[in-house]
Amino acid sequence: MKTLVVFYSRTGTTKAVAERLVEALGCDSEEIVDTKNRRGSIGFLRSGYDAVKRRLTTIKPTRRDPSEYNLVVVGTPVWVGTFSAAVRTYLYLNQNLPENVAFFCTYGRGSEDAEKVFAEMQRVSKRKPVAVMGLKAKDVKKGVYEHAIQRFVDEIKGSARQVK
Ligand SMILES: Cc1cc2nc3c(=O)[nH]c(=O)nc-3n(C[C@H](O)[C@H](O)[C@H](O)COP(=O)(O)O)c2cc1C
Repeated sequence: MKTLVVFYSRTGTTKAVAERLVEALGCDSEEIVDTKNRRGSIGFLRSGYDAVKRRLTTIKPTRRDPSEYNLVVVGTPVWVGTFSAAVRTYLYLNQNLPENVAFFCTYGRGSEDAEKVFAEMQRVSKRKPVAVMGLKAKDVKKGVYEHAIQRFVDEIKGSARQVK
C-alpha cells in the first residue's frame, strides 16, 4: 500500500514521530513548512491565536500529490485544543486525500486534547481515520513511545488488507 506521512512541526517533536513512522512504514514523507514566523514567544502567541480563530496560514508548496497514495498519515502538534494552522491549511488545500487516512498528534498536557483534535481533523478532512495516535511530548523526548508506534503501524497495516 503506497503510504505518505505528511506533518507539521514547530519545535521538532511531531517531526521526530513522523521520522520514526516513515522508518516503520517504509514510506514517503512530506514536511509542511509554514512561512509565518512562529519562533519565540511572539511566534508562540501568534500560533495560539491562529489556532483559536481557526485561521489558515501560508504554507510552502508541497511536493507530493496525496491523491497518488492509498493512505495518507497526517501529523500535527496540538495547539490550544485544536490542530496547527499549517495542517489546517494543508487539509483545506488538499481535498483530494485518499479515502484512507490516519492521524497522529503530539501534545504537552492531556490526551483529551488529542481526542478533540482527531474529531476536528475528521470534520475538516471529511475522512474517517483508520487509526489515530496521540503522544505526550515528554514521552517522545524520552524516546518511550515505541509501543504506541507499533500499535499505530499495525492498525494502518491491518487497514491495508481492505485497500485494493
Ligand atoms: C501555541 C501552542 C499551543 C499549545 N496548546 C496545547 C494544548 O492546548 N494542549 C496541549 O496538550 N499541548 C499544547 N501545546 C503543546 C504542544 O502540543 C506540544 O509541545 C507539541 O508536542 C509540540 O510539537 P512540535 O514540537 O512538533 O511543534 C501547545 C503548543 C503551542 C506552541
